[in-house]
Amino acid sequence: MNKGKILLVGFGPGAKEHMSYRAREAIAEADVVIGYSTYIKLVQELLAGKEVIRKGMTEEIDRCVEAYEQALLGKKVALISSGDIGVYGMAGPTFEVLLQAGWKPDSGIEVEVIPGATALNACAALVGAPLTHDFCSISLSDLLTPWPTIAKRLESAARGDFVVALYNPKSGRRTRQIVEAQTILLRHRSPDTPVAIVKSGYRRRQAIQMTSLAHMADCEIGMLCTVLIGNSATFVQEGLMITPRGYANKYDRLTGEAKSGEEAGRSLSMGLNGWHACVRKQLRDQPERSLRQAADYFAAPLGEILAAIGAAQDEAGDHRAMAFAMEDLAGVLEAAIDWGRLRAVVRTDSGATAELLLDAGDFSRRGDWLNLITPHFHLHVDLSRIASAWFFSQENRQQGLYFLDPQGDALFSLLQIKRDGVFEPAALTSFHQARERFGQPHVAAEEILQAETETDE
Ligand SMILES: C[S@@+](CC[C@H](N)C(=O)[O-])C[C@H]1O[C@@H](n2cnc3c(N)ncnc32)[C@H](O)[C@@H]1O
Repeated sequence: MNKGKILLVGFGPGAKEHMSYRAREAIAEADVVIGYSTYIKLVQELLAGKEVIRKGMTEEIDRCVEAYEQALLGKKVALISSGDIGVYGMAGPTFEVLLQAGWKPDSGIEVEVIPGATALNACAALVGAPLTHDFCSISLSDLLTPWPTIAKRLESAARGDFVVALYNPKSGRRTRQIVEAQTILLRHRSPDTPVAIVKSGYRRRQAIQMTSLAHMADCEIGMLCTVLIGNSATFVQEGLMITPRGYANKYDRLTGEAKSGEEAGRSLSMGLNGWHACVRKQLRDQPERSLRQAADYFAAPLGEILAAIGAAQDEAGDHRAMAFAMEDLAGVLEAAIDWGRLRAVVRTDSGATAELLLDAGDFSRRGDWLNLITPHFHLHVDLSRIASAWFFSQENRQQGLYFLDPQGDALFSLLQIKRDGVFEPAALTSFHQARERFGQPHVAAEEILQAETETDE
C-alpha cells in the first residue's frame, strides 16, 4: 500500500492570486481535501475530481483525526486553512493529534507544512505598510485562552510599543473583549494612534475602515476582521497607514547623509552600547538630575541607569555607581552602621512610597529575609528577589545603597540622611571605604566589531 501523506496547507487570505505556488501544487496532488466549509468554498475551483470532506467551525480536532485516518489508508490528504496554517490554524492541533497517536516523523506518514500569507500580512498590505517595525499578534478569542492571559499580553504589547494585530477581535457573542483591549492599550498609547480594521481582506466582501484607537471599538468589527493598531511612530498620510523603519534616526531626510555621530551599517549612537554613553552625557550635562528622573527620562529601569553610570564612572559627572555581590551584604550592612540614621525608601508599583528612618544595625537576617522590627514599623525584605545591589552616590545629593529586582526596578534603597544640609563627613568616609572594599568593577559590554558588512535594511 502507498504511504499516506498529510499536507498542511495555508492558502493565504482568500484570493487565488495570493495563494503560494506550493499551496496550489499541494492541493493538486492531494486525493482528499479536508477543511472548514467556508475554506472549501474559497478553493472550490481546485477541487475537481477530489474527495472533499467539509467540517463545521467547531470540529477542528475532527479535521485532524480525519486527516490522520485518511493518511493511514495510504491517501495524500490536504488539510487546508486560510492564511498560514501555523498561525491560529490547524498545524499545531494536527501535530498534537499525531503525536498522541504515536506518530513519529520517520514512521511512514510524511507531514509537510505549507506556509501562506497570514491575515496580518495581507491586511497590512491593503492599508499601506503598518508592520515595518516590531509587531505582534494577539487573538481576542477567549474560547481556548483565559482572559487574564490575553489581558497580560495586551498590556505587555502596549508597554513595549509594538504594532498590534488583533485576530478574532469580536463575534456576535464576544463583544466586550475589543472594548477591554482598547482600554488596556489606551493606558499606554495615544488616543490618536492610527487603527485599520480590515474585513475579509482579498475576498469578495473586502471592507476597510481607518480610525483611531479612541474610536476603534465604535467601528463595525466582526470575526472576519483583523484590527491593526499602530505604535507610537505610526502615521496616516494620503490614506496610507505607515510605521517608519527608523531611517530618520540615522540619516538626514534631505541629503541622505548619516547624521552626526552615526555611521551606516553600525549600531546607532543610541544602540546597545551607545545608549549608555547617552545616559552618562545627560547626567554630566544635568548633574542635578536624580537617578529616578534619569530612569523616567529614558523610560528605562533604574538598573539600566546604574549600569550605564557604573560602566564609566568618570563620564557620568557627579554620579557614581558600583555593584556589590549579595554574599557581601552582611559586610556592607555592618559598614553601614557607621553611616548613622538612614532613610529606607520602599516604593510600590501603584504609587505609594514609604520612607522609614532606621539604623543599619537594627537589621537581622532570617533565611531569605532581611527583617527590621521596631515599635513603629516592620520592614521585611525578601532577599531572594534581589537580583543586584549597588552603591550609589550623587555628590552632595544622595549617598546609599540600591537593591534591585530582576527587572532592574528598585525593591528598596537605603540612603544616608543629611544634617544641616550636608552629609556627615565620617559617614561619607565610611561609605567610600565600604565602596572601595566591596564594590566590583563593572565590565562594560564590548562592542563586537563585525567583520562582515551589515546593512541598515
Ligand atoms: C482562526 S484565525 C485564522 C488565521 C489564519 N490562519 C491566518 O494565518 O490568517 C481567524 C481570524 O483570522 C483573521 N482573518 C483571516 N482571514 C482574514 C481576511 N481575509 N481578512 C481579515 N481578517 C482575516 C480574522 O481575525 C479571523 O477572526
